[in-house]
Amino acid sequence: MKQIVFSGVNKYYGAFHALKDIDLAIDKGSFVALVGPSGCGKSTLLRSLAGLEKITGGDISIAGEVVTALPPRRRDVAMVFQSYALYPHMTVEENLTYSLKVHGVSKAERKRAAGEVAATTGLSGLLHRYPRELSGGQRQRVAMSRAIIRNPKAFLFDEPLSNLDAALRVHMRKEIRALHDRLGATSVYVTHDQIEAMTMADHVVVMRAGVIEQQGRPLDLYDKPANKFVAGFIGSPAMNFIPATVEEGGRVTVDLGAGPVELAVAVAAPVGARVLIGIRPEHLTLTAPGDGRLVAAVAFTESTGFTTFVSTATTPELMVVETGRRAVASGDRVGLAFDDASVHVFDAETEQRL
Ligand SMILES: Nc1ncnc2c1ncn2[C@@H]1O[C@H](COP(=O)(O)OP(=O)(O)OP(=O)(O)O)[C@@H](O)[C@H]1O
Ligand SMILES: [Mg+2]
Repeated sequence: MKQIVFSGVNKYYGAFHALKDIDLAIDKGSFVALVGPSGCGKSTLLRSLAGLEKITGGDISIAGEVVTALPPRRRDVAMVFQSYALYPHMTVEENLTYSLKVHGVSKAERKRAAGEVAATTGLSGLLHRYPRELSGGQRQRVAMSRAIIRNPKAFLFDEPLSNLDAALRVHMRKEIRALHDRLGATSVYVTHDQIEAMTMADHVVVMRAGVIEQQGRPLDLYDKPANKFVAGFIGSPAMNFIPATVEEGGRVTVDLGAGPVELAVAVAAPVGARVLIGIRPEHLTLTAPGDGRLVAAVAFTESTGFTTFVSTATTPELMVVETGRRAVASGDRVGLAFDDASVHVFDAETEQRL
């Protein structure tokens, strides 16, 4: 069953077209990540769902009800922000139960509800504290608990972990996802971090400039990006792109200066068409210069300990190779080997996958 449906949603801020014909259907119980570069419209889409922005065209429904004209409080969704938005003069317990109090829930019932949610989110010992007496991670837990206590139809997260350090962020990702599963919730999670989107979500929506570029299961996006933008956005370090040409029979040849190399891929494009081939860093292997498919010089290397990223001075951009610990240095000539089955091909003009 679809819990949230956007159909033909458009949003203008004055003359600026912030959301362009957004169609998105979210299954009940699923965890959906909205991801894309800064300014692409992620927050606008989320805020439109919450009713904090008025959309210019189209419709939004939640749990089968069209909510386009409803104010935020009648939509029954809970939002969790990066800034936490806690009331500083209230204790954790008062922050958690404020919405219940507003709705006239009795003191005893509020206390019981706060205790129950706090037990789920690991806040049991902190109910009497004020927000200033909590760590960033604990504050974020209070913000989530406050959403949970309302038992909403959906949880909406807008970059909730951006204020936390890297280690805590990784920990909280798992915590949020586990909580989502335990509650059987429907969650929409905005992030500009594609790793966060890939690791947390069942369904990833990639946006650019107000448009949904592609949506699907995380690994489907990774394996079959619909265009160059998604290919370059999903995956870190990013996919390498090399200009290539289409020959007779749709065969693709690439030339890095050492002569044309024919790839065992065929595309439906006319002879002479310019294409881009995409190869992920982990699909390239370093070889002796004569043994690879392509030859290049090492520009620089970066080691994380576990793996080494070798950048080669190929045109028009550096090419990144992921490899184990390996003694290569700037200026070394290396061969690059790859399996043709791992190659993606994009039209150089339209940037669509071929
Ligand atoms: N109230 C507003 N008035 C005019 N333009 C706005 C308003 N709010 C947002 N915008 C513009 O709409 C676009 C989308 O903004 P939005 O906040 O949705 O981006 P975002 O994807 O959440 O970016 P970020 O990752 O930086 O948070 C941006 O170009 C922004 O400048
Ligand atoms: Mg935003």
